[in-house]
Amino acid sequence: MSGFWSAFVIVLVVVQVVGSLWLLQTFTRAKGMSDADTTGHVWDGDVEEGNNPLPRWWLILFWLTAFWTVFYLVVYPGFGDFAGVFGWSQYDQYEEEVAAAEERYGDIYAAFAGVSLTDMAKNEDAVRLGRNLYLNYCATCHGSDGRGARGFPNLVDDAWQWGSSPEAIQMTIANGRIAVMPALGAALGEDGLNQVVEYTLSLSGRSDADEATLQAGQQKFLQFCSACHGPQGQGMQALGAPNLGDDAWLHGSTAADIRDITLNGRQNQMPAQRDLLSEDRIRTLVAYVLSLNES
Ligand code: HEC
Ligand code: HEC
Repeated sequence: MSGFWSAFVIVLVVVQVVGSLWLLQTFTRAKGMSDADTTGHVWDGDVEEGNNPLPRWWLILFWLTAFWTVFYLVVYPGFGDFAGVFGWSQYDQYEEEVAAAEERYGDIYAAFAGVSLTDMAKNEDAVRLGRNLYLNYCATCHGSDGRGARGFPNLVDDAWQWGSSPEAIQMTIANGRIAVMPALGAALGEDGLNQVVEYTLSLSGRSDADEATLQAGQQKFLQFCSACHGPQGQGMQALGAPNLGDDAWLHGSTAADIRDITLNGRQNQMPAQRDLLSEDRIRTLVAYVLSLNES
C-alpha cells in the first residue's frame, strides 16, 4: 500500500471511530430524560411517539464494540500500513500451515519414494492416499468413481488414449495432454462425410450400409483419418487418437456423434498437474489410477 492510501485508510478509520463515539455520547445521554418525554409526534389522535434513552445494557454493548475496534487495530493489521503489535499476517499463517502439513504428510509420501509404481498400485496405504488426492484434484472431471463423462475419459476401462503404462500415465498427469481432432467436414464434402461415418461405424460392426458405400468410406478414411487413427482405425497413442473400433467412446457412439466430431473437430485438454502437485503426490495418483484398472 502506498503512503497516500495508507494515510487515506487511517483517516477514514479515525473519522469512523471518533464519529461513532461522538454519536453515542451526544444522542444517548440527554440529561433529564424520562419515560414521559415524547417527540411531539401524535398519530390517531392519542398515540404519542416516546423519546426514551437506550437501555443501559444496550449502550454498554456499543461502547464495548468501540473498545474492541481500538484493541483490534492495535493488535492486528487494519490501520493503514500498521502491521499490528504482533506482526500477524494471513500470508504467514498460510505458509506456516502449509509447512506444518508438509512436515506431517511429507513423510507419508516420501515413504514410497523407492517403491515402483506397479508395487505402489498394490499397496493399500498408497492407494488410499492416492484416492484422497484423486477426490480432491481429479474427481470433478473424471468422476468420483473414475468412470468419466462425455469428453472426460473413463479411467477404469481398458481403453487408453495416451497409453496405460505407469510411465505414460505419469506423463499424462504431470505434463497434461492436448488432443486435437481436426474439423474435416469441408475437406470430405457431404457424400464423403456420410461414407466415412458409415465406415467408422463398421469398424465396431454397426453399419448396414452397402458394400460400395463402405469401400468409398474406407478410401476416405485412409486418405483423411488413418494418419492419426491408424489404417484400421486402431488409434495412435502418441497423438491421443482413440481406437475407433472398440466400444469406448469419449464423445458419444451414435452415427450423429461421429458425424458431428468429424464435421466440426474437437480439442480436448488434460490440465498439467506438475505445478500443483509434488512429484511424490503425482506418483501416488499414478498408483491409484493403475489400481482402478486392476480391480
Ligand atoms: C479440468 C478437467 C480435468 C481434471 C481436473 C483432470 N483431468 Fe484428466 N483428463 C481430462 C481430459 C479432458 C482428458 C482427455 C484429454 C484428451 O482428450 O486427450 C484427460 C485425460 C486423462 C488421462 C488419460 C486417459 C487416457 O485414456 O489416456 C488420465 C490418466 C488422467 N486424465 C488422469 C487424471 C488425474 C489423475 C487427474 C487428477 C490429478 C486428472 N486427470 C484431472 C480432464 C481433466
Ligand atoms: C490430426 C489427427 C487426426 C485426424 C486426421 C483425425 N482424427 Fe479423429 N481424433 C483425433 C484425436 C486426437 C481425437 C481425440 C479427441 C479428444 O480427445 O477429444 C479424435 C477423436 C475422434 C473421434 C471421437 C472418438 C471418441 O472416442 O469419441 C472420432 C469419431 C474421430 N476422431 C473420427 C475421425 C475421422 C472419421 C477422421 C477422418 C475423417 C479423423 N477422426 C481424423 C485425431 C485425428
